[in-house]
Amino acid sequence: MKELLRELKERSLSAIESADSAQALEELRVKYLGKKGELTAVLKQMGKLSAEERPAMGQLANDVRAQLERRLAERGEAIAAAALEHKLKSETLDVTIPGAEYRLGHRHPMYTVLDEIKEIFIGMGFDILDGPEVELGEYNFTKLNIDEGHPSREWTDTFYFTPDSRVCLRTQTSPMQVHAMETRTLPIRIIAPGRVYRKDEVDATHSPMFHQIEGMAIDKGVTMADLKGTLNTVVRRLYGENTVTRFRPHHFPFTEPSCEMDVQCHKCGGVGCPTCKGEGWIEVLGAGMIHPKVLAGCGIDPDVYSGWAFGMGLERLALRSYKISDLRLIFENDTRFLEQF
Ligand code: PHE
Repeated sequence: MKELLRELKERSLSAIESADSAQALEELRVKYLGKKGELTAVLKQMGKLSAEERPAMGQLANDVRAQLERRLAERGEAIAAAALEHKLKSETLDVTIPGAEYRLGHRHPMYTVLDEIKEIFIGMGFDILDGPEVELGEYNFTKLNIDEGHPSREWTDTFYFTPDSRVCLRTQTSPMQVHAMETRTLPIRIIAPGRVYRKDEVDATHSPMFHQIEGMAIDKGVTMADLKGTLNTVVRRLYGENTVTRFRPHHFPFTEPSCEMDVQCHKCGGVGCPTCKGEGWIEVLGAGMIHPKVLAGCGIDPDVYSGWAFGMGLERLALRSYKISDLRLIFENDTRFLEQF
């Protein structure tokens, strides 16, 4: 039995020395000292010994147990210390490493122009309205006096959601005129900026999605002179006092009379160049006096009230503001381009 104990002691101590985790140590403790452990098994055989042998063997067995327990505890502490050391090393925070730099963005140039325009109109007593980009054909066309069969209602021009052409992506911000007339009390002065969609191929001057700003004023005695005065004020505030404009007669189903406003080309000063396609002028908006049928359809008596409306392309204004010649630059989001502004 003495031999057995010595062999057990050596084997268990060396196993403890080479254990490398708390779990391995616990397994060893169960293996040797547990209820069904090897040392326990040896102790159980004490009863077979003679009365003379028993005290010495008992003493020896207790010594072995005590040693095992001590080494288990010591090894446990060493393993815990090593684990802590490893944790501290792997989690060190080097406060001298330069931090990750945040790149701060800035406003897109087109929205800077939009903000300027909003400011100008707010200063003249206008409200800013927001409205749906997914629109009923009724609002995008019918209530604006655009009859069935009008070319702009074609599937080749407009993105429709439903086969019956009932729901579409708005092709213009003009349906906001109807929304404003239906929901606001008179007199009305609003602008409504937003995205519009048309089935156009992308090129230097076209995009299937672009931005318009709708403007509208309705009151008693409003005339075309108010429209021209307002628009001239706006472009001069935007581009400077010396900006030259011209109004040309045009046709829109929802205004009568209708016109387009051109601004003299910023590149050539009116002589004609590639930017203005040799015209010397750049068309910036369509406008006119709101058609009596449209007013009446929205419950406003055209014999008492009159109003004007305009719709301008925001991208074009931004291009002019920043002397950019290609519309695509506005949408491509190339930061090398955008960071110049
Ligand atoms: N909605 C017209 C367009 O997209 C512009 C416009 C708006 C014309 C308001 C007259 C009045 O071309």
